[in-house]
Amino acid sequence: MTIEDPGAPAADNGEFWLFGYGSLIWKPPPHFDRRIPGWVTGYVRRFWQASQDHRGTPEAPGRVVTLIERSFWETLPDPHSSADKVWGVAYRIEAEHVEEVKEYLDIREINGYTIHYTPFCPASNPEKPIRTLVYIGTPDNDQFVGPQDIQALAGHIYLSEGPSGLNRDYLLGLDKALQELSPESGDEHVTDLSERVRAIVSREEERGRGGGKGGIEAQATKNVVSQGSDAAAGALHDSRKVGSVDQNEETEKVG
Ligand code: BEZ
Repeated sequence: MTIEDPGAPAADNGEFWLFGYGSLIWKPPPHFDRRIPGWVTGYVRRFWQASQDHRGTPEAPGRVVTLIERSFWETLPDPHSSADKVWGVAYRIEAEHVEEVKEYLDIREINGYTIHYTPFCPASNPEKPIRTLVYIGTPDNDQFVGPQDIQALAGHIYLSEGPSGLNRDYLLGLDKALQELSPESGDEHVTDLSERVRAIVSREEERGRGGGKGGIEAQATKNVVSQGSDAAAGALHDSRKVGSVDQNEETEKVG
């Protein structure tokens, strides 16, 4: 499904621009000739999309980012505020590579993302927006999770893993990539989750060194039995350990 946003004119030379606000920031598409930092407005970035194919599995989905329309987000409970700008990068894909890149990116659609178009403001020239294609997991897709308790979400990300690797590496990679874009491109939601996950990692390492029992995995497993909690499902999944898949498109190409 493709949803048009008339906010900026389409290029007429066959090229297209792609906006990345998640792993595309640090894992570029296979072909591009320009990469520009900047932002879009009217959206909020949140770890509210389940990932069954990259950072989780169908049995124990991880969590990845999607964009929520700001007017809808304002109706939802959320401990984090959100700046007007969602920072990311825009890639220019030249006409001769459009088919290949679109085919490659369309793999994403299978996990609930759909194609939208939105104006992107280059940081170096915000007065001249560019029409960009963006993948969004809208609230009506099956993988949309919506607001979650923030500490439970951090625990869930800590425990999740999929063919593309650890869910926490995606989170921490996104936080780092955002910090590197500009002095003002940090994202409170992403940074808070990263700090919580780092704290869990430290606690678990400490527990490991002390040989203690009852860490987050044991706790989560207990929760599965008693409450069927989402985070706990991650723990059960984690104990099954999904190996990295060499041919995986995220590991090899996008992210
Ligand atoms: C990204 O911006 O990295 C992205 C978001 C959703 C689907 C694919 C890529």
